[in-house]
Amino acid sequence: MGGSRRPAQATAARQPHEYRDPKPHAGGVQAPAFPKDAVPKHVALVMDGNGRWAKERGLARTDGHTAGESSLFDVVEGAAQIGVQYVSAYAFSTENWKRSPEEIRFLMGFNIETIHRRIDEMDELGVRIRWCGRRPRLWKSVIRELEIAEERTKNNTRLTLAMCINYGGRAEIVDAATALAEAVREGRVDPKDIDEELFASYLDEPDMPDVDLFIRSSGEQRTSNFLLWQSAYAEMVFDDVLWPDFDRTHLFKAVESYVSRDRRYGGALPNVVSAAPRPETP
Ligand code: FPP
Repeated sequence: MGGSRRPAQATAARQPHEYRDPKPHAGGVQAPAFPKDAVPKHVALVMDGNGRWAKERGLARTDGHTAGESSLFDVVEGAAQIGVQYVSAYAFSTENWKRSPEEIRFLMGFNIETIHRRIDEMDELGVRIRWCGRRPRLWKSVIRELEIAEERTKNNTRLTLAMCINYGGRAEIVDAATALAEAVREGRVDPKDIDEELFASYLDEPDMPDVDLFIRSSGEQRTSNFLLWQSAYAEMVFDDVLWPDFDRTHLFKAVESYVSRDRRYGGALPNVVSAAPRPETP
């Protein structure tokens, strides 16, 4: 998030290095050979259904979150196989503070522990880890771990994994509007110059491209305040599978659907010859 964060002191950036190959899928499923240009550049993941997965098995909700970890990292391996460049994972929303204190405590600790434990394998794969989210209220120990991961992996170029923690799309837009209003007040920006591009430069990660493919697991069909600005033209895929049962094969299925769609961004179908607008008749 934003440029105001202190860089971590604890771990120096690793110098550019050779990346390992993505790990094969546990069930032996091969990655489809999608045409390079057809693959979505940025995939957003709403990792939903952990609680229901746990309930179905008579387990605690937190066991569902634990089981969801391998799903995320298997998707990252699959994303690297097919050439996705950005994966944004909704790991804790600004609304998740409404959960029980026990679940919040678990999720904070789980995020720290997961990032710490996964950093080497992500670094070897060539993954750059970034944090998207608000600083206030987030545990300092989580921020510290995220900053260490960001610093350590900042030279990696194969894929960026944005861990969205204490993230909310509306909060991000409000923060951007606040910063822009401040810039206007100080005379650094003329309101006449404000357009979509300038506004977007005030968002958390202005250099990340818009979301191409937005995936939500568990059958729910909502965006739940995730990457609202960036997903304006995203293709949506809602998969019924609960997050702990999700893996790269579900990503491949979503990408198959994505490549078959026409993205028109409000324009016309590509090979439909558009008739000239008819003159208004009185
Ligand atoms: C929603 O499931 C999931 C979250 C609140 C995010 C947590 C996600 C994980 C722990 C997956 C892996 C993440 C990391 C950091 C490795 P839910 O609790 O809302 O499920 P429900 O809708 O079935 O209750």
